Amino acid sequence: MKIETNTSVGDIAATSAAAASVLERYGIDYCCHGKSSLEDACRAKGVSPESVKDDIAHAITGTPANSTDWTTAPLRDLIEHIVAKHHEYLKLELPRIGQRVHTVARVHGEKDPAALHELEQVYDGLAEEMNLHMHKEEMMLFPAIERSEFAAQGGGPLPPLPFGTIANPISVMEHEHDSAGNALIRIRELTRDFEAPAYACSTYRAMLEGLKALEADLHVHIHLENNILFPRAIALERNN
Ligand SMILES: [Fe+2]
Ligand SMILES: [Fe+2]
Repeated sequence: MKIETNTSVGDIAATSAAAASVLERYGIDYCCHGKSSLEDACRAKGVSPESVKDDIAHAITGTPANSTDWTTAPLRDLIEHIVAKHHEYLKLELPRIGQRVHTVARVHGEKDPAALHELEQVYDGLAEEMNLHMHKEEMMLFPAIERSEFAAQGGGPLPPLPFGTIANPISVMEHEHDSAGNALIRIRELTRDFEAPAYACSTYRAMLEGLKALEADLHVHIHLENNILFPRAIALERNN
């Protein structure tokens, strides 16, 4: 796909993980605001679309030839990848990072009470919401998408869905992604871009590293669902 300044950042990120990480580096939100054009997203960040395009072109050249193209791979493979890589990551890391957030609030709470207390609240809300969210995807939405793909490939008629059309739960999931995206923005603000204060102990630093990695992983995760899996599932249902 040729990248133009009016190409949406979601579509750009969908071309490769390398392109997505360039957008990530520029702080361009390609998951929850994936429909913005490259030009609009760059203007909002005060960067030149041309330099972003150049960086993407360089990054793509170095992409391994065997990396999967999720815009064409079977949806069941994409779902398996999302669950194995991103859901499993969250199930493992959310409690670990949460422990550090609570320890830091307990130990350093009085040095920065407003920010550290709010960080605990925002983090706990995000963790609870993501656990529920992943459960709904794994138990309801993803199996429905897999059945829909199976039916489309001639494997049998699509059984009636308990929630009407696939587009219904997808719009709920997108709404929950927006909420998670807002929590990540607030976490970045509260930690001042994950910058450790002078008094930070090793737990504090590990907490910031964990939160930064969580943000990067969730951006890719939400992008794969919002910009690739969900539109492809809706198109599949429409054509069935
Ligand atoms: Fe997910
Ligand atoms: Fe999701």
